[in-house]
Amino acid sequence: NLLRDKPLVSVVSRVRRLCKNKLITAVNGEYPGPTINAHEGDTVVVYVINQSPYNISIHWHGIFQRLTQWADGPNYITQCPIQPQNSYTYKFNIIGQEGTLWWHAHVSVLRATVYGALIIRPRAGAAGYPFPQPYKEATILLECALAAGGAFNNSDAFTINGRPGDLYPCSKKHTYKLEVEQGKTYLLRIINAALNSQLFFKIANHPLTVVAADAAYTTPFTTDVITVAPGQTVDALLHANAAPGRYYMAALAYASTPNLAVDNTTTVATLTYKYSFPSSTPPLLPSLPAFNDTPTAHHFYSNLTALQRPKLQSPLAMRRDQQLCQGVALSANMNNVSFRFPTAISLLEAHFRGVQGVYTKDFPDRPQLGFDYTNPNVNAGTKVKKLRYNSTVQVVLQNTAVLTAESHPIHLHGFNFYVLALGFGNYNETEAVKAFNLVNPHERNTIAVPAGGWAVIRFWADNPGIWFMHCHLDVHLPIGLGMAFEVENGPTPSSTLPPPPPDFPRC
Ligand code: C2O
Repeated sequence: NLLRDKPLVSVVSRVRRLCKNKLITAVNGEYPGPTINAHEGDTVVVYVINQSPYNISIHWHGIFQRLTQWADGPNYITQCPIQPQNSYTYKFNIIGQEGTLWWHAHVSVLRATVYGALIIRPRAGAAGYPFPQPYKEATILLECALAAGGAFNNSDAFTINGRPGDLYPCSKKHTYKLEVEQGKTYLLRIINAALNSQLFFKIANHPLTVVAADAAYTTPFTTDVITVAPGQTVDALLHANAAPGRYYMAALAYASTPNLAVDNTTTVATLTYKYSFPSSTPPLLPSLPAFNDTPTAHHFYSNLTALQRPKLQSPLAMRRDQQLCQGVALSANMNNVSFRFPTAISLLEAHFRGVQGVYTKDFPDRPQLGFDYTNPNVNAGTKVKKLRYNSTVQVVLQNTAVLTAESHPIHLHGFNFYVLALGFGNYNETEAVKAFNLVNPHERNTIAVPAGGWAVIRFWADNPGIWFMHCHLDVHLPIGLGMAFEVENGPTPSSTLPPPPPDFPRC
């Protein structure tokens, strides 16, 4: 199936929110951007024309990009940006992934307004969903941008599907509404597209049953509150079996300290029962956790397990060939290397063409020396970790934030990884191993490493190319909280990095 969505054209659009008109960079005049609806097994072709005044690239967050590495999208990692008035055709296959993903600009803060859902349904004739077919589906895009002003005129508020909601002045008429029928089941596809905020999500009087996260099926898990970090997605079933009426769904920032740069008002949307008696009383607001309720966040994150499916249980996936211990720190490094982007060629192109001097392959396996917080440039570098094809890699992510304790959502391009364990304090191998889930660990592409804690993930390096791993808090990207893996080619043409396409952007 070749899926040709209409072209994505980045243009400058006028939006009205919170009583103000703003010019934003949007795609096809839509905010949030258009949804890409695909089926597993499809080839997606997206023709991106950059009519904005900014350099742009688009990342298909969570797509493996096997044999289409040149379509991954991170700026200066796999490609040079698409310059104003230029275009690039992203073409990729979707194989072995079902559920909710999303796409976003992978250049600076443009991601604040240039994003949309990427939905992958089971292919026709396949088994379908591993849960009862929902009556209808709804996409819930959660976003909050910094009040950046200036060139990137972002949203200043939390939003659900681009709408701030009733609790913000001037926004009532535009609140997103989901109408449901009594007794039916709905599949909510929840995406945290926020630049810098983890979120709690809840619907008054309606527990939700999580069935997938990051486009990987989970054991059904029923919960009042969903926690979702920037980059992550959660698919959950909503059973419309409360008393007919109107209810709020709401999202609130979860953080150890509130982000003072934004209006932290709770964003809401309404859930309305069809045929319910019209009422003038406001919808019921759910009681949300406190903004810093770490036990609630941890309870959610640590209760996800994979839906038992044989393909997930390859013993090979549970082998461990090499281990990296990554210190994740606020300002901002991994293993004491503060990542710097190249400027004239992407890492992937340098790798493919054997261009020397763009990056080095000496990314350390563990923190080596003290990090100079007075001058992070002392420890700056463009270093990658080279991985043998088909090796199984374990990464210990230790959150060593020195300035404020903050949870970092770490995203890996090109792979899903298994989440073996999460914990608080300093990682201690002997203790941690006892907590490893080697039976049914869930898969993710983005893991929220707890504030003052650690996470252990494993992935199978069976996808040749250059894959970025970085904090999905947008503010941490330019200051160096990232690194890249270089996965060598395998023995066959189907495990070899192909050449870039003819319209590949030049710097
Ligand atoms: Cu969704 Cu490299 O990011």
